[in-house]
Amino acid sequence: MAEISRPHEPLLSVRDLSVEFRTPGGPLRAVDAVSFEIFPGETLALVGESGSGKSTLARALVGLLKPHAGRIELDGAPIAGLSRAEFRPLRKKLQLVFQDPHASLNPRLSVSATLSEALMLHGHGDRRTLDARVCALLARVGLDPALRQRYPHEFSGGQRQRISVARALAVEPALLLCDEVTSALDVSVQAQLIELLRSLQTESKLSYLFITHDLGVVRSLAHRVAVMYLGRIVELQATEAFFERPQHPYSEALLASIPRLRAATHGAKPRLIGEVPSPLHPPAGCAFHPRCPRAFERCAREIPGAYAVEAAGFSRCFLRDPSNSAPG
Ligand SMILES: Nc1ncnc2c1ncn2[C@@H]1O[C@H](COP(=O)(O)OP(=O)(O)OP(=O)(O)O)[C@@H](O)[C@H]1O
Ligand code: SF4
Ligand SMILES: [Mg+2]
Repeated sequence: MAEISRPHEPLLSVRDLSVEFRTPGGPLRAVDAVSFEIFPGETLALVGESGSGKSTLARALVGLLKPHAGRIELDGAPIAGLSRAEFRPLRKKLQLVFQDPHASLNPRLSVSATLSEALMLHGHGDRRTLDARVCALLARVGLDPALRQRYPHEFSGGQRQRISVARALAVEPALLLCDEVTSALDVSVQAQLIELLRSLQTESKLSYLFITHDLGVVRSLAHRVAVMYLGRIVELQATEAFFERPQHPYSEALLASIPRLRAATHGAKPRLIGEVPSPLHPPAGCAFHPRCPRAFERCAREIPGAYAVEAAGFSRCFLRDPSNSAPG
């Protein structure tokens, strides 16, 4: 990944963000008091088991879901709680790319029409230059502009994902939120898409919030890693430190569940056992305690705070609480 020099000011700042769904079983808190920052040109990976709230968080950040509480700032200006009209000019700075381009691309629109629509929607729609801009976008994502009159079904999965990326880039965003964009692709096609995202970042200082289940991709692409469990970020660390010295038992278990990566962590680490509890009835105290091999008495009683770990990271685990008296 490209080195970033981290400026003082984050591009995106999220503070105590919570998102609740109303369900027949009661309120379901899918995102619970989440805080983090993303700096210009940075890739923050977001990992965690299915249902931990990753997509919900991404959808709240782009305004598709209304947060229940918390603050979102873009370039220092608050965006949570804005009306649709107020949010529109800012909206283009944040673009969401989904896992399944088949579902997100309109099958009845040619690639040219899809990209033209995106360009015009955000005021880049000078008719005389539109076609040239469409061609430039396609070239930027490594697709032949001569194919622009074709329809989504005429492309492979990897090519369709490039079209989705091109559509997102049409509005010159500062941050792409990539929600499992590689998971439906073959390994070699995945690698090419990752390479594309990496070169786009180097070219134009794009930032990424990169949601994935693939820790191999995280290691190769991300500058920092955030781990979600039942709606909370339980660990956030620089990538290398995360893989070498995970600071939360859940992260240790996630890493240990991947044989390819296990060799890189030191010693035998616990496997993940049991199911993720329902977010409708989260366990008291540390939500991970029913599955945690290191749980002790305090864990079922109190919710852990965010304890500082190396290089400005944090872990929500009492074992990292400097005042904790239990054995670490
Ligand atoms: N529209 C909705 N209504 C009610 N509950 C929802 C809704 N969308 C998501 N949820 C619930 O919110 C929680 C978080 O879901 P989310 O899709 O954000 O998880 P995820 O981390 O993206 O999972 P995956 O890795 O499977 O994509 C889950 O318990 C899910 O069932
Ligand atoms: S706070 Fe306790 S239960 Fe939670 S992760 Fe740490 S040791 Fe395990
Ligand atoms: Mg998801």
